[in-house]
Amino acid sequence: MEQHPNTALVIGAGGGIGSAAAEALAKRYRQVIAVSRQPSAPPALAGRDNVQWLACAAEETAITDAAAEVAGASAELPLARVVIATGTLHGEGYRPEKSLRELSAGTLGHLYQVNAVLPLLWLAALEPALRRSEAAAVAVLSARVGSIGDNHLGGWYGYRASKAALNMLLRSAAVELGRRAPNVALLAFHPGTTDTPLSKPFQARVRADRLFSPAWVADALLARMDAARADGELHFVDYAGEPIPW
Ligand SMILES: NC(=O)c1ccc[n+]([C@@H]2O[C@H](COP(=O)([O-])OP(=O)(O)OC[C@H]3O[C@@H](n4cnc5c(N)ncnc54)[C@H](OP(=O)(O)O)[C@@H]3O)[C@@H](O)[C@H]2O)c1
Repeated sequence: MEQHPNTALVIGAGGGIGSAAAEALAKRYRQVIAVSRQPSAPPALAGRDNVQWLACAAEETAITDAAAEVAGASAELPLARVVIATGTLHGEGYRPEKSLRELSAGTLGHLYQVNAVLPLLWLAALEPALRRSEAAAVAVLSARVGSIGDNHLGGWYGYRASKAALNMLLRSAAVELGRRAPNVALLAFHPGTTDTPLSKPFQARVRADRLFSPAWVADALLARMDAARADGELHFVDYAGEPIPW
């Protein structure tokens, strides 16, 4: 496959979907910058000449510095694809809440910080580099459970709310980019249930044909990004390109 003479960027390249997206992008783009909190690349990426691993803490100043490095590294090969694949659902001492009694301010704040604030800090820091591109698509990993209209089951308070907040932040960003960077298409992407550490504890009731591999999802994501229009809208879509209600 001929490689586009552009840069693709993945934030959260140590994750299941992020690393698969970086691999898929490395086949199509001349340069891939893979950002992660992890100090080194997983084996599938470490062997690729066109992948540059950039370790970065999940903090505001580190993000600003890393974005400046990305801007420098993409001066010759402008950014064409950005995938922000960070996110958390469960971790040490927290898991999705089943009832109001399980709510904790600390967990709610943590989920909001990781799932909504960090992706927006990245988008803000990358905006100058994105403006220099002729045509770019940015996809941020959201989730269908962040849809308010689609919430008929309840539960998962913090994760749902943090993804709804992410969508609102992205919607505002889409309006602004429509004015300041009309070359940039913006997607909030729902990958479907994907076989990664994030979904592992919740896979038991998922039908085998509804549990996607990260590689399959990465290809679907890239297809959705290829098809996305830069029109000042936020496209909240699933892996099949179907729009999801707010
Ligand atoms: N898997 C699913 O079924 C599913 C369904 C719907 C939506 N999603 C969304 O898809 C995205 C990717 O998830 P995944 O399934 O690939 O999960 P994953 O394998 O757990 O990867 C998530 C990545 O997010 C980053 N991250 C996690 N905790 C963080 C923290 N505290 N601070 C900063 N970064 C943190 C890490 O990237 P680094 O290690 O590279 O720093 C981590 O590897 C998430 O936004 C998730 O909500 C997934």
